[in-house]
Amino acid sequence: MAKKTWTVLELIDWTRAYLAERGFENARLETELLLGHALNLPRIELYLNYNRQMDEDELKRYKVLLKRRLAGEPVQYVTGTAAFMLSDFEVGPNVLIPRPETEALTEVAIELLEEAGLRRRQRGARAVESGQRPDDGPEALLADVGTGSGVIAVTLAQEFPGARVLATDSSADALEVAARNAGAAGVGDRVEFLEGELLKPLFAEVAKGKLLALVSNPPYVASGQIEQLPPEVRDFEPRRALDGGPDGLDCLRAIAQDGAALLVPDGVIVLEVGDGQAEAVAAMLGESFGSSEIRTDYAGRDRIVVGRRPGQR
Ligand SMILES: C[S@@+](CC[C@H](N)C(=O)[O-])C[C@H]1O[C@@H](n2cnc3c(N)ncnc32)[C@H](O)[C@@H]1O
Repeated sequence: MAKKTWTVLELIDWTRAYLAERGFENARLETELLLGHALNLPRIELYLNYNRQMDEDELKRYKVLLKRRLAGEPVQYVTGTAAFMLSDFEVGPNVLIPRPETEALTEVAIELLEEAGLRRRQRGARAVESGQRPDDGPEALLADVGTGSGVIAVTLAQEFPGARVLATDSSADALEVAARNAGAAGVGDRVEFLEGELLKPLFAEVAKGKLLALVSNPPYVASGQIEQLPPEVRDFEPRRALDGGPDGLDCLRAIAQDGAALLVPDGVIVLEVGDGQAEAVAAMLGESFGSSEIRTDYAGRDRIVVGRRPGQR
């Protein structure tokens, strides 16, 4: 009997229905991401290839990817790529998959840095008009603590051509991924990677009082709640990226207590927190800084807390 042949469109339709039946929420998107990866094509180009016949090797590659997804592995690990603020970043089992709330965190940091006078990159025609060069803007030192795949550090370095970013993590494996992402984004020369526990590498490398901003999305899930996380998270994402100790606040507490000493006057700490943690973290930052502010993510949840070191009078 002749083997069934598949066009790209037939395979998209079949897989979408198969995944949807099994409860996958974003069946069409995930199908396209997997197929694009198997064919080494950007997702958008699948549309130009709807009638193309898949060859045997392509089908084999696709089947392997689909099987991994059906076994519950997040699609970003299967394809090795995650989207963050309009860019694609390499991800893998050693790093957390970046989340939308971390995009909101990064946007708050960008807004505060612009307010502090740091010059943001111009895009398109405005860049040409302004004559902005990549090295324009005041020198500023920023830090991303627990950088993982490096999404926050790399985005800040891209947005602020005059900034240098120190990106720390206790995982050397994560730092390797982050360094590749910085290189791919063209900011490898302005992001420095430091291995170590929370703020220790910053205190070792940076004289106190030098950072304009310290941004962090640290682990904040209470140890006892890890087992209740969805299997896709619990079984595939690195535990050290999730586990924030008995009440989830171990890392946030340490950063809130000691981070202020690293900042310039008027420098800011911008922290992502878990659901229900904002008040407690705001109180911690309030103790170090005298005041603090809670900001919301795109879903309107209190997930970002800001502290500002008082300025010089
Ligand atoms: C929630 S993930 C955030 C990753 C990335 N910044 C993001 O937002 O997608 C936390 C990161 O902190 C790192 N980490 C956990 N405990 C740490 C510690 N005590 N010191 C330094 N880094 C730590 C983990 O390896 C992980 O990469």
